[in-house]
Amino acid sequence: MQQPSPARIGILTVSDRASRGEYEDRGGPAIRAWLEHALASPWAPVTRIVPDETDLVAGALRDMADGEGCCLVVTTGGTGPAPRDITPEATEQVCDKLMPGFGELMRSVSLQHVPTAILSRQTAGIRGRCLIINLPGKPSAIAECLEAVFPAVPYCIDLIEGPYLETREDFVQAFRPAHARRGA
Ligand code: MTE
Repeated sequence: MQQPSPARIGILTVSDRASRGEYEDRGGPAIRAWLEHALASPWAPVTRIVPDETDLVAGALRDMADGEGCCLVVTTGGTGPAPRDITPEATEQVCDKLMPGFGELMRSVSLQHVPTAILSRQTAGIRGRCLIINLPGKPSAIAECLEAVFPAVPYCIDLIEGPYLETREDFVQAFRPAHARRGA
């Protein structure tokens, strides 16, 4: 499959109140601002806001991965223990394989900032040629979590045959083995 150019990156806000317009979505814009700082190669955001309903979250993830051709989807919200927190379940439902190291690293780094990080069940996984990563809903969690895992994201996307993402080295240093680096 030909990858769309520029790379398309999904930003999915999962929130009952934001989806009803009762609450300003701060998570989605925070992810977009972080990615704008982090990425040196061309990319285009695909943004959505959905309520905390498993079918709607899973449907949005499928559509962003398959229909929109996103190589990466970052979600925010719905990772906690409350009855309506279902983002990790919807993510697991649509993924071919899970990438538990992402959740482990994000929780471990987040615990250095807040003891409540243990309450997030955030995970990550692969659907086709798309990497899906869950972040908590708190805007402050976004930079904390993305700083921790983003160094692994470009090489992960190489391995699933997605576009070659380049980062701004002074902001985030992507890890790629020497054989996978272009123009080095
Ligand atoms: N992780 C970081 N880095 N910073 C935070 O403030 N909040 C925690 C946790 N992880 C937090 C965090 C809290 S209070 C909860 S309840 C869980 O994430 C789940 O949040 P969510 O349901 O909004 O996804």
